[in-house]
Amino acid sequence: MHITVIGTGYVGLVAGAGLADFGMHVICIDKDESKIEALEQGEIPFYEPGLKELVERNVKNGRLTFGTELAPAVKQSLVIFIAVGTPSDGQGGVDLTFVKAVAEELAETVDEYKVVVTKSTVPVGTNRWIQEIINKNTPAEINVDVVSNPEFLREGAAVEDFMRPNRVVLGSESQQALAIVKDIYRPLYLIETPFVVTGLETAEMIKYASNAFLATKISFINEIANLCEAVGADVHQVAKAMGLDRRIGPKFLHPGPGFGGSCFPKDTEALARLGRDYDSPMQIVETVISVNEAQKMRMVDKIESLAGDLKSKRIAILGLSFKPNTSDVRESPAITIVGELLARGAHVAAYDPAAEDEFKRIFSTEQIDYRPNAYEAAEGSDAVVVVTEWNEFRNLDLGRIKQSVKQPVLIDLRNIYDPRRMKELGFDYTSVGRPLSALKQC
Ligand code: UGA
Repeated sequence: MHITVIGTGYVGLVAGAGLADFGMHVICIDKDESKIEALEQGEIPFYEPGLKELVERNVKNGRLTFGTELAPAVKQSLVIFIAVGTPSDGQGGVDLTFVKAVAEELAETVDEYKVVVTKSTVPVGTNRWIQEIINKNTPAEINVDVVSNPEFLREGAAVEDFMRPNRVVLGSESQQALAIVKDIYRPLYLIETPFVVTGLETAEMIKYASNAFLATKISFINEIANLCEAVGADVHQVAKAMGLDRRIGPKFLHPGPGFGGSCFPKDTEALARLGRDYDSPMQIVETVISVNEAQKMRMVDKIESLAGDLKSKRIAILGLSFKPNTSDVRESPAITIVGELLARGAHVAAYDPAAEDEFKRIFSTEQIDYRPNAYEAAEGSDAVVVVTEWNEFRNLDLGRIKQSVKQPVLIDLRNIYDPRRMKELGFDYTSVGRPLSALKQC
């Protein structure tokens, strides 16, 4: 089967390469010529473990190609996946400009039956709207069916999540289209992946409800962590014991500086907005958003409380991406934290294993002293702050760091170090939700 995937971002490129690996002939389309040229040279536009190998393998076996022209790709494909960006519109809504442009271009191009599958995260009602745009602009005798197929992959684990998803959600009103898309995902049947088949709006809602629920877990545990600090309890033990209750589950109960990334912030905003639009308030989600904003600022207060007045202090930031194993800095807590540190008069030195170039688009080399490794970032600093839990920070030579800093202050916003060991090493140390008083008890 021939498939077109429109958009070569995280979702489009991973889906395109993954579907080629499932045995499909896939052409990935992007309007950005330089991106397509780079992909043809084997260059992946972002850091994602395992993706380069997956792309290389499928380009080599001839099942994965790239192009900038939609029409010729669509002509030879039965199924077209839409995986273009759906950024925030800046007012809590979602900017559907790219989706609309693709739907209109598809409508002008199709000359026989096609299945259009939406993978981009789109507000509830969008797939029906896509179907209407296509119907309106296509000759009456040509039938096109729309399927909503939200993607649940995580950046940093995208290939694994695509190849071994927890579930596949398919929303459509056409049995024929559903049968075709199920056939594409046949390899997942073999590994007993559950398939949930629904209507269009339900599939769209599943995606938002899932992301909002995960974001809720994070904001919940962050508030519990803050309270743990006040009452002298250990949030890790609290989360562990909570997670042992199978109705709660252990995942996404790790406290930190707040959630970031291209999905949770945007999707919680969009769901809250949808609730307002339909006069069906999403009060929990609204609170999750404000708790998350407060958490990021709280981290700066935490830094100040240990480092002292931030004016002219040198603060070393370890980790800039919104989470490890990605170069993505969209909505990274590091952006708010660094911005506020600078506003309070601090000098910032920073190191990230993959996200420096991306971060430079937000904070220039005049604003931040970017360093080539953690040790050089820490040198001469008044406080070292771990913002992203990259694996390489877990095994730093902390003795060496202590020798080179101005004052031995370490603020661990991801709880990667043992507080007792840090005390033994002579650091003035704090993390999130683990006061030393709580640890003394065990
Ligand atoms: C998230 C979802 O996990 C995916 O299922 C979904 O497909 C994706 O959004 C999307 O909608 O496209 P992602 O944004 O890549 O994936 O990253 P996560 O691993 O979910 O982490 C999101 C943020 O939450 C990060 O900033 C992370 O540090 C934070 N987080 C996560 C915590 O603070 N605590 C946790 O326990 C877990």
